[in-house]
Amino acid sequence: MQRVCRRLLSREDFFHCCRSNRRFFSSLAEREDASSLHDNAVLPKMPPFDYSPPPYTGPSAAEILQKRKEFLSPSMFCFYEKPLNVVDGKKQYLFDEDGRRYLDAFGGIATVCCGHCHPEVVEAIISQTKRLQHSTVLYLNNAIADFAEALASKLPGDLKVVFFTNSGTEANELAMMIARLYTGNHDIISIRNAYHGNAAGTMGATAQSNWKFNVIQSGVHHAMNPDQYRGIFGSDGEKYAKDVQDMIDYGTCGRVAAFISEAIQGVGGIMELAPGYLPAVYSSIKKAGGLCIADEVQSGFARTGNHFWGFEAHGVVPDIVTMAKGIGNGLPIGAVVTTPEIAQVLTQRSYFNTFGGNPVCTAGGHAVLQVLEKEKLQENALIVGSYLKDRLKSLQEKHEIIGDVRGRGLMLGVELVTDRQLKTPAKAEILHVMDQMKEMGVLVGKGGFFGNVFRITPPLCFTKEDADFFFDVMDYSMSKM
Ligand SMILES: Cc1ncc(COP(=O)(O)O)c(C=O)c1O
Repeated sequence: MQRVCRRLLSREDFFHCCRSNRRFFSSLAEREDASSLHDNAVLPKMPPFDYSPPPYTGPSAAEILQKRKEFLSPSMFCFYEKPLNVVDGKKQYLFDEDGRRYLDAFGGIATVCCGHCHPEVVEAIISQTKRLQHSTVLYLNNAIADFAEALASKLPGDLKVVFFTNSGTEANELAMMIARLYTGNHDIISIRNAYHGNAAGTMGATAQSNWKFNVIQSGVHHAMNPDQYRGIFGSDGEKYAKDVQDMIDYGTCGRVAAFISEAIQGVGGIMELAPGYLPAVYSSIKKAGGLCIADEVQSGFARTGNHFWGFEAHGVVPDIVTMAKGIGNGLPIGAVVTTPEIAQVLTQRSYFNTFGGNPVCTAGGHAVLQVLEKEKLQENALIVGSYLKDRLKSLQEKHEIIGDVRGRGLMLGVELVTDRQLKTPAKAEILHVMDQMKEMGVLVGKGGFFGNVFRITPPLCFTKEDADFFFDVMDYSMSKM
């Protein structure tokens, strides 16, 4: 029956048919059969998965899009020519309104480890919600204290005091304020191509013209990006670090309160800072009386495989670490962790955050940490991530359009260029490949200054079979360019 459908229907008709016969065609519309949408070539097969989502009876993608246009911010954007209505999730998979399954190779940044709807995290959230949800301040509650203790145990040195927030933006805003209060200095140095959040201060520290609004931020300075692919010093981190020292020596940056950076720029296109850069910069900043802030919103929580935190690969210990996204496997929670001495500075005045660290989010966050350890997901990120990276490197030899393959663990980037010598960003091509991959059942992210870098950041339960499927689909899409 499936074969007959494939032969008789055009690609559009096939999907139209799937939509109007949702239940009947749901499994048929999965990747296993999406091969019918293309010519007779043998298409990659999605690994089997024993789960069917409940029927979806809500509004269609088109109806949601219409409402979104009318009632939501015009600045909101969606991936894909035809935006996807995802209605269910399980582990590393998402399901659309027709029950079609997709391999989620991007959403892991938000649902770090356990994958979508991990039963133990869901259970922790439900049982705390049934018992009590309240603000963080005023009364005692064990959930926040237990999670803070567990989190502090994952950090090196004297990084033991946790301030919970509701997002990564809030965490970075707080970290910069703490640094300013502690040092008595005002200026902040961040790196070009970084992303640190969407409020005034973090927007200032965000040095990406695509994301930064031109709102006035005094005392924020953007240092040369130690970009190993496009940067003028290649992988020589110490040479880029000299730019920060120069800002201090020539007084262009005033008195430094803090230096803030990601270890691997996420939104910036999975760009790992050149080796040697962070130790040299941290040393310059400390000598100048500033603090070093590590933004681990994307690279934290075991994603990079060989370490729990991204900064650890650079052999440095920050004064302040910020985190969000994966910390709660999708819950709105973030955190700032610092030393008892630095934390003391917030006692000068009243400081509180109504919901940062509320019982429900901290119960969920604690469950995430436990699942990470129980399911050995850091180890998995290392094994599967290294395997996929090796395979992608081999793909680079086959497809001229791949200019660079980089990253660590399950935080990988594939940069597309139309000319390897000139490194001309393949902006249109990446959109085409991304759409083709979606048609074949793979969702992947995109980023970088020019928007030409695939961001591969799946849930950490991603398997080698998923990696093979991902590879095959990317290979097929590029071969058909
Ligand atoms: C490295 C980094 N820092 C901070 C943020 C801001 O986090 P949020 O969107 O939770 O405010 C992001 C978001 O993408 C990020 O990637």
